[in-house]
Amino acid sequence: MTETRDISEILGLLDWYRSMGADAALAAEPVDWLARGPVPPGQGFQWPDRPDMASAGFVPSGTAPREVAPPAGMTPPAPQQPRLEQPRPDPRPRPQTPLAASEAETDARRIARKAESLEALGDALAAFDGCTLKATATKLCFYRGAPTARLMLIGEAPGREEDLEGKPFVGRAGQLLDKMLKAIDLTEADVHIANVVYWRPPGNRTPTPQETLACRPFLERQIELVRPQFIVALGGSAAKEVLGVSDGIMRLRGKWRDIKIGNITVLALATLHPAYLLRTPDAKQKAWLDLLAIKARLDR
Ligand code: URA
Repeated sequence: MTETRDISEILGLLDWYRSMGADAALAAEPVDWLARGPVPPGQGFQWPDRPDMASAGFVPSGTAPREVAPPAGMTPPAPQQPRLEQPRPDPRPRPQTPLAASEAETDARRIARKAESLEALGDALAAFDGCTLKATATKLCFYRGAPTARLMLIGEAPGREEDLEGKPFVGRAGQLLDKMLKAIDLTEADVHIANVVYWRPPGNRTPTPQETLACRPFLERQIELVRPQFIVALGGSAAKEVLGVSDGIMRLRGKWRDIKIGNITVLALATLHPAYLLRTPDAKQKAWLDLLAIKARLDR
């Protein structure tokens, strides 16, 4: 039976999908992720029309997106079966994560440690299937800027633009970040920009601890290879991960501290995330003080 829906209903439904985190089409045909059973990422799943994603896989990590009711009077359409053959559902209980977090981290550490250059680390990341974010991302988002730099900036996670381009901070927040750097006489060529996780979380949600943990050994190795003198964590989530503390960003920001990452000790500072500054222009005053503190260090 074909249902007719008017445009406002369709727009309402799209809006609902968007608020549920489904804001990008990954393939032309819907994919029933639940039908594939306990197959770890990277094994045995073929995207219908995405040969580049052939090695990706997904088992829900247990992090449910924000619950939003569908628009009044509407029920979301029943999921359609993809035309392509899918693995039969496995009746056995499934693990919540494809690899236990510690297993993924151990794997990541073993692989990352072997990388003797940034290029090798990028290749290793591209081949790594231990972070479930890879399954839904379009591109690996490794770094932007200079391969070695005195200043390294670390954000939370790639967003939509970054996912499409495969580089951190290229969207609106990234444009503001570039302006902030310019204000202290820096360009992309002077800095190394990365994120705590290397793939976009669906719907731009905060990465889960498992996802962050699986990426952590790569970030540590990246820091060892870039050998920055200073690290700036952008926003609360990156600050917690990089500084290893749980205070809120307003308490953390603007204070230098020594941190040990991998085998090196670096001076690190947290500041406000450019995306937050776009939403809260009044906070730019505080960010400016942090930028001056960074400039003073670099000029010493
Ligand atoms: N926000 C981040 O934290 N990182 C990006 O790369 C883009 C936006």
